[in-house]
Amino acid sequence: MNKQEIIDILSDNSKNDWLFKEADRVRRENVGDEIHLRALIEFSNICKRQCFYCGLRSPNKEVERYRLTKDEILLSAKKAVDLGYRTVVLQSGEDDNYYSDKLCDIIRSIKELDVALTLSIGEKTFEEYKAYREAGADRFLLRIETTDKDLYEKMHPYASFENRVRCLEDLRTLGYEVGTGCLVGLPNQTIESLANDILFFKEIDADMIGIGPFIPHHQTPLKDEKQGDFWLALKVMALTRINLPNINIPATTAMETIIPNGRLIALQSGANVVMPNVSDICNRKKYEIYPNKAGVNDNELEVRQQLEEKFAAIGRTISKEKGFRSR
Ligand code: 5AD
Repeated sequence: MNKQEIIDILSDNSKNDWLFKEADRVRRENVGDEIHLRALIEFSNICKRQCFYCGLRSPNKEVERYRLTKDEILLSAKKAVDLGYRTVVLQSGEDDNYYSDKLCDIIRSIKELDVALTLSIGEKTFEEYKAYREAGADRFLLRIETTDKDLYEKMHPYASFENRVRCLEDLRTLGYEVGTGCLVGLPNQTIESLANDILFFKEIDADMIGIGPFIPHHQTPLKDEKQGDFWLALKVMALTRINLPNINIPATTAMETIIPNGRLIALQSGANVVMPNVSDICNRKKYEIYPNKAGVNDNELEVRQQLEEKFAAIGRTISKEKGFRSR
C-alpha cells in the first residue's frame, strides 16, 4: 500500500470489519495458526531516561526501584523454560549497572538453556550491541515510538531521533532479528505520521512489530492527556500485518489493558505472538510503565494453561518452536 491508501483506511471506520478480517487472513496464510509465546523478564526498572509517557522515567521519585542479580534472572529464565517457553525476553529501563561484560555473562548463561534470547534494554553503542550479539542474543526490541521527528524529540528529552534510527540500523547490521513499533495516540500525533510509521517498518524490513495505545500515567507530564484509542491501534496493527505479511506481531499488553479481551481481538486481527510476564510477582507492580498493566497479578503456571484454553477457543495452538520470522 502507498501512503495515501494507508491514510484513507486509517481515517475511515466504515471498512474496519473488512480490514481486521483481511489482516487475519494474511496472518493465517503467511505465519499460520500457531501462536509464539515469549517469556518476559523485567530485570530492572531503573532508567536514566525521561520519556514523557513512561512511568519509569528517572524524574519519577514515587517508583520503588529494583534491580535483579544474575542468579535471580537465571531463576526466572529456568522457570520459563520449565513451563515450556522457547524464547526469553530480558527487558529493563536504561540501566548502566548492567555494563557489557556483566550482561554478556547473563546472556551466555541463559543461552545454555536452549532458548531464543531477546533483549529490550534501549539505546546502546554499536560495540555494546556487538558484544551482546556475540554472547548469543538473537533478537532485539527497540520501538521507534513515532517516526515524527519533532514529536519524537518532544516526547524524549535529551534524546535524538537520529540515534534511535542508528540503533535500529546497527542491530540489523549485526544480524539480530529486529523488533520495533510505535505508540498510538501520543498527544498531537497525526494519522499521516501513523501511516509513515507503517512505511518505516517496511523500509527497515523489521522482523517484529509491537503496537500499543498510549496510556496516560499519573506520575508523568502526560498525566492529563487522552488515552490512545484501542481501535485505531488495532487498525495500525492490522495494516502492519497486511504490509509486512510474514513478520511476528505481538498482541500487546497495552491492548489487553485498555479493553477486556483486547489480546484475543488482536490475535484475530493480525497478531501471532503473546508475551506473558514471568517476572517475580513481587516486582511486577514496580514495573509500571503505565497504570493497571494487564497480568501483574497472574500466576505463571495458571496463565499458560488459561492462554492455551483461550487460544484453542479461537482455533489456535501454542508453537513449540523458537518462533523466528518465517521467510
Ligand atoms: N502507554 C503505553 N505504552 C507505553 N510504553 C511506555 N510508556 C507507555 C505508556 N504510558 C511502551 C513504549 C516502550 C514499551 C516498552 O512500552 O512504547 O517502547
